[in-house]
Amino acid sequence: MKIIIGKNLLAKINRLFDFSKFSKIAVLTDVNIQISLMSQISQIRKSLKRELTIITIPPGESQKNIETVKNIWEKMFETGLDRKSLLINLGGGVVCDIGGFAAATFMRGMDFLNIPTTLLSQVDAGIGGKTGVDFLEIKNGIGVFKNPIGTIIDVETLKTLPKRELVSAFGEIIKHGVISGREYFDFVTSKKPEEFSQDELIKIIKQSIKIKSDIVKRDPKEKNLRKILNFGHTIGHAIESLSLKTDKPLLHGEAVAIGMTIESNLLCHPVLTSEVSTRMAGTIKNGIENAGLPTKIDRFELEDIMKVISSDKKNFKGKLLFSLPERIGKVIPNIEISQEVIKNLLQAQMYS
Ligand SMILES: NC(=O)c1ccc[n+]([C@@H]2O[C@H](COP(=O)([O-])OP(=O)(O)OC[C@H]3O[C@@H](n4cnc5c(N)ncnc54)[C@H](O)[C@@H]3O)[C@@H](O)[C@H]2O)c1
Ligand SMILES: [Zn+2]
Repeated sequence: MKIIIGKNLLAKINRLFDFSKFSKIAVLTDVNIQISLMSQISQIRKSLKRELTIITIPPGESQKNIETVKNIWEKMFETGLDRKSLLINLGGGVVCDIGGFAAATFMRGMDFLNIPTTLLSQVDAGIGGKTGVDFLEIKNGIGVFKNPIGTIIDVETLKTLPKRELVSAFGEIIKHGVISGREYFDFVTSKKPEEFSQDELIKIIKQSIKIKSDIVKRDPKEKNLRKILNFGHTIGHAIESLSLKTDKPLLHGEAVAIGMTIESNLLCHPVLTSEVSTRMAGTIKNGIENAGLPTKIDRFELEDIMKVISSDKKNFKGKLLFSLPERIGKVIPNIEISQEVIKNLLQAQMYS
């Protein structure tokens, strides 16, 4: 799978892949992006020199559900797409995840190409082959692994991205720092997200993708090692799911930031502790705060959070399993933590 990173790529998209083999091409996007990136959509049309079907969905995580997929499938049938067609997902993680899933299941699978347009989806969601939707209260509860034919990352698309979305991406970027080691962690926490130049952002995108894809290559189906990418996500997903039902939904990277702050203390809970890991948890928290991301939230009931955590798909045979950092540069998967320890920690961290 080809990943192409650069500037002004969409104007010459016809040179990046062989599009002639596809019977039809559709672009899936959300209504915000359709407006913000109107000129990029017309660049794609001009470069491909062919008719494009545009399929739009409303924006936001709340749309990442099976109803929206149904609407996309309907539109695909109505506009005559078939198994030899191509779906281009132009958008953030929501569009890439849902579009990948709709394409992977349409007529038993058609090709798709990802053009992630948020920093978060550029460093994370656009690669790795995970597609899917949220179901009941479970984030990404339904989905399949299927790789796009490629991913095009055009940093020009970030020019219209709201600042809160840019900052949120640093939730995942800092996670990559915790996984890979001090050098990258220190670089990405060295200044505020909005202070990085476009060239520095390209460097960050490349490095984050390298970290993620090295792991994904070694364990594509998340049997073991890949689980380390879930650091911060067990508690993060629970908080994110609950926040979606309120009038102040958290962004994915914000929820992951809170998740990482809390989870990085799990290994230094008194029962399991060492002074080194207490210091590490402090370093992670400082980095997260410095980026302008939240580290705690107190508006959810402890029992509600526990309920969602207990249904997390990373659990196995009723055991609550976490990916936790032993130090910056070493995250370990499959650590079983008891309900009691988690409850105490949540109480100490969130309600203090
Ligand atoms: N598949 C994976 O491996 C993976 C990894 C991480 C996250 N995810 C998923 O990604 C989702 C979050 O993705 P996201 O943060 O990109 O959110 P998103 O897709 O909801 O996009 C955020 C907002 O920004 C707008 N937007 C997007 N690009 C824009 C641009 N260039 N200019 C102006 N506005 C723009 C969108 O309309 C939306 O309102 C979550 O559902 C998460 O589960 C998936
Ligand atoms: Zn994530």
